[in-house]
Amino acid sequence: MRISRDYEARLNPADCYFLPEKLISRAEGAVAIIPCHTEAFTAQVIAVMPHSVKAICNFSVGYNHVNCDAAMARGIIVTNTPDVLSDATAEISMLCILGAARRAGEGGRLVRDRELRDWRPSFMVGTQVTGKRLGIISMGRVGQVTARRARAFEMDIHYANRSRLGEANEAGATYHETIEGLLPHCDFLSIHCPATPETEGLLNTTRITLLPDGAVVVNTARGSIVDDGALIDALRSGKLFAARLDVYNNEPDIDPDYRELDNVFLLPHIGSATRETRDAMGFCALDNLDAVVAGREPGDRVA
Ligand code: DGY
Repeated sequence: MRISRDYEARLNPADCYFLPEKLISRAEGAVAIIPCHTEAFTAQVIAVMPHSVKAICNFSVGYNHVNCDAAMARGIIVTNTPDVLSDATAEISMLCILGAARRAGEGGRLVRDRELRDWRPSFMVGTQVTGKRLGIISMGRVGQVTARRARAFEMDIHYANRSRLGEANEAGATYHETIEGLLPHCDFLSIHCPATPETEGLLNTTRITLLPDGAVVVNTARGSIVDDGALIDALRSGKLFAARLDVYNNEPDIDPDYRELDNVFLLPHIGSATRETRDAMGFCALDNLDAVVAGREPGDRVA
């Protein structure tokens, strides 16, 4: 294993989550930590981090679990793993789009629970994906790959982004300067922006109202971008046809109301969970670590 070959690594063979105190004590004398997005590096945690720690080389593209200001103030470098998980996450977004449209969660339950009876023309009717409009919030790496995959379903791509993409990357998609401008054009809405203070609760009641009736919402980015109460109300009232979520506020203690709804399908934060991608994320984190140790600028420095 590369990490054990090159470093005296304190591994986590049980692959378990560490509480901050455990994380801090295990970091004693270590030059760097390679954590997951579940390990929160709050200002308080960073304040008591051993002085040996020079870098937090995340095993994730998202780094909202790290207080970057606090890390920078202590001279701790923070890196992430961009690019390598765009394909896998876009695949999960497509799974969510298709699954929501064709009621895959409900259908699976019927078969499993032996409630599959007679076939009827009105049985399990969903909504077609082919030719529909897909709105993408944030056309970064994952958003762009999702758009490419969706084009294979002849979806008409609309997007909102801080800035308009060049013609080649836009590939015929329609740009909207604001999210409010985008939403009325979305039969399906897929969220791909990072979790920041600015995007917290971005999909709220006011914005959901702007979506066409019967729209589908997919979130594979971060739970904090969605106002759970607003989404749950819209799913209950029938304003939205369905939602498919891979990420949640307060994981793993998600809003229990989601579990009661038939038109929401819940995945356990597995956007990057393919063997290929998880390996690539590990190697990317190690490349960043190698650079820090060699005194070079790491390729994926975010703070
Ligand atoms: C990421 O890389 O941010 C994924 O959500 C897994 O942590």
